Amino acid sequence: MVRIEASILSADFARLGEQAREAEDAGVDGIQIDVMDGRFVPNITFGPGVVRALRPLVQVPLDVHLMVVEPERTVAWFAAAGADRLIVHQEACLHPHRVLQSIRELGVEVGITINPGTSVAVLEELIDLVDLVQVMTVNPGFGGQAFLYSQLTKIRRLREMLDARGLAVPIAVDGGIDPRTAPLVVEAGATVLIAGSSIYNSRATIAENVAALRASVS
Ligand code: DX5
Repeated sequence: MVRIEASILSADFARLGEQAREAEDAGVDGIQIDVMDGRFVPNITFGPGVVRALRPLVQVPLDVHLMVVEPERTVAWFAAAGADRLIVHQEACLHPHRVLQSIRELGVEVGITINPGTSVAVLEELIDLVDLVQVMTVNPGFGGQAFLYSQLTKIRRLREMLDARGLAVPIAVDGGIDPRTAPLVVEAGATVLIAGSSIYNSRATIAENVAALRASVS
């Protein structure tokens, strides 16, 4: 079963609540909130207040993708705001093993993610601590970027690593996911699709875009 999460990075920031609800009504399985601090990535977006504002508006899980330096300083804020899962970048953690343990202690789901230039090898000692691994298929910071086909091999390698360890940890992919690239990442072993600009755009309605994405992998 492939899960689809709408990334609100490409939503209308003046109507975030409505746009999150519309994605939920369109049948997405979660909402991903892209938190950016202007240091780990060249963009600044949301804080815990947006999670707190969205929490009562939708029933689907709120997935917080922390593209920030020193994420350990912020995880408690987002958990308290109502996040269901916190995803941190391995590259942003001085002590990733301890950061993942600290997220677990907050009682929310734990995710780790790596950028296109980072090998899955860095996850070797971390994958038994997490509920999800997210492979970035663009360099993070902005929506609407081109999918990096080079990451397909990485997704396959990660699936092999997880399977070899008997870990049923799902692989999420984030960046340039649309009806054209979705089947490729699912075939490579991904089961969670994070989609922003292919859901929120002027070409079609949110419902039509979610349906097209769902159809591309069904
Ligand atoms: C990092 C962000 C984006 C976003 C999805 O830049 O994490 O990847 O979620 O953006 P799209 O789906 O528009 O590539």
